[in-house]
Amino acid sequence: MSRAVVFVEYGDPEVLQVVDIPPPRPAPGQVRVRVRASGIEPFDSLIRSGLAREQISAVFPQKMGGDFAGVVDEVGDGVTAVGIGDEVAGWTFLAAHAEHVVVPAGQVVPKPPSVPWTAAGALSASGQTAATVLTKLGVGKDDTMLIHAAAGGVGSFAVQIAKARGAATVIGTASERNHDYLRSLGAIPVSYGEGLAERVRAVAPLGVDTALDAAGSPEALPVSLELVADKQRIGTIAWQAQATAGELGVRRLFTEPGAAQLGELLDLCSAGTLRVEVQQTYPLDEAAEAHRVIQAGHVRGKLAFTI
Ligand SMILES: NC(=O)c1ccc[n+]([C@@H]2O[C@H](COP(=O)([O-])OP(=O)(O)OC[C@H]3O[C@@H](n4cnc5c(N)ncnc54)[C@H](OP(=O)(O)O)[C@@H]3O)[C@@H](O)[C@H]2O)c1
Repeated sequence: MSRAVVFVEYGDPEVLQVVDIPPPRPAPGQVRVRVRASGIEPFDSLIRSGLAREQISAVFPQKMGGDFAGVVDEVGDGVTAVGIGDEVAGWTFLAAHAEHVVVPAGQVVPKPPSVPWTAAGALSASGQTAATVLTKLGVGKDDTMLIHAAAGGVGSFAVQIAKARGAATVIGTASERNHDYLRSLGAIPVSYGEGLAERVRAVAPLGVDTALDAAGSPEALPVSLELVADKQRIGTIAWQAQATAGELGVRRLFTEPGAAQLGELLDLCSAGTLRVEVQQTYPLDEAAEAHRVIQAGHVRGKLAFTI
């Protein structure tokens, strides 16, 4: 049997349970991975709560989890590029908080030996979101970028990837307790809240070229509009800011995962250029506590299951 976190009704974190189910089997072209680590995202608690049920409805018993690292333990017919025993990282949709996950062989890439399991397992969802949206916003050499919620899962990766792509200055919003952390990633920290635009102007007197809202707070998009001239270089990934983004004419951005992109991120990790900050790991049995922490909205970096 195989253990998995599921819920059978929408609700608070207490609806989560760990069940024993028959291990999923790979169809032709698929691989099965014995998961060693898997990141936990706000999206998981959004799905569990039912707040997003009009957009994405659960199919009970509903699993969760978008990324993983582990060891391939079965391959479907026709799979030649991946073999049993390979150490991999990959992505899926609402399935990875489990001992086993089955995905198309093209959704896993080799895990470099130097990248720890927890880092590799918590990389894809937030890391690929950050990489995707920075590409869409055209972040590159000499840019000055503002990132709202820079200390969170996506924000932490976005700061580092923006710097790696040549951004001259990255300004990140966070509460005071995360300012040293943001400095360690290469960002100039500013506190969010009233007066944010003035604080950003003070550290970026020549202006801001592009802004990413990963906070979804009422101020993030209006402040970005005050500071960035080109609306096409302002984007939000936050679920709660999607309607406002449409009204303001700024971009709604979504992750586009891909094997090449994930491989590049793992290479950056292996080279020491990209750090995966994992605030806390949990066993599957503590899924409810992990959801309480993620939905409180103040995680530094990532949370992850170790399985
Ligand atoms: N569109 C997509 O494809 C996509 C993909 C991934 C994620 N998302 C969404 O993107 C958002 C961010 O995801 P995430 O995983 O980065 O979230 P997260 O890790 O839970 O973000 C936590 C961070 O938010 C910061 N924060 C809280 N309130 C803030 C505020 N008012 N202003 C600025 N920062 C604030 C916290 O900093 P302090 O503790 O210092 O307050 C904390 O470090 C979520 O809404 C998520 O659902 C969308």
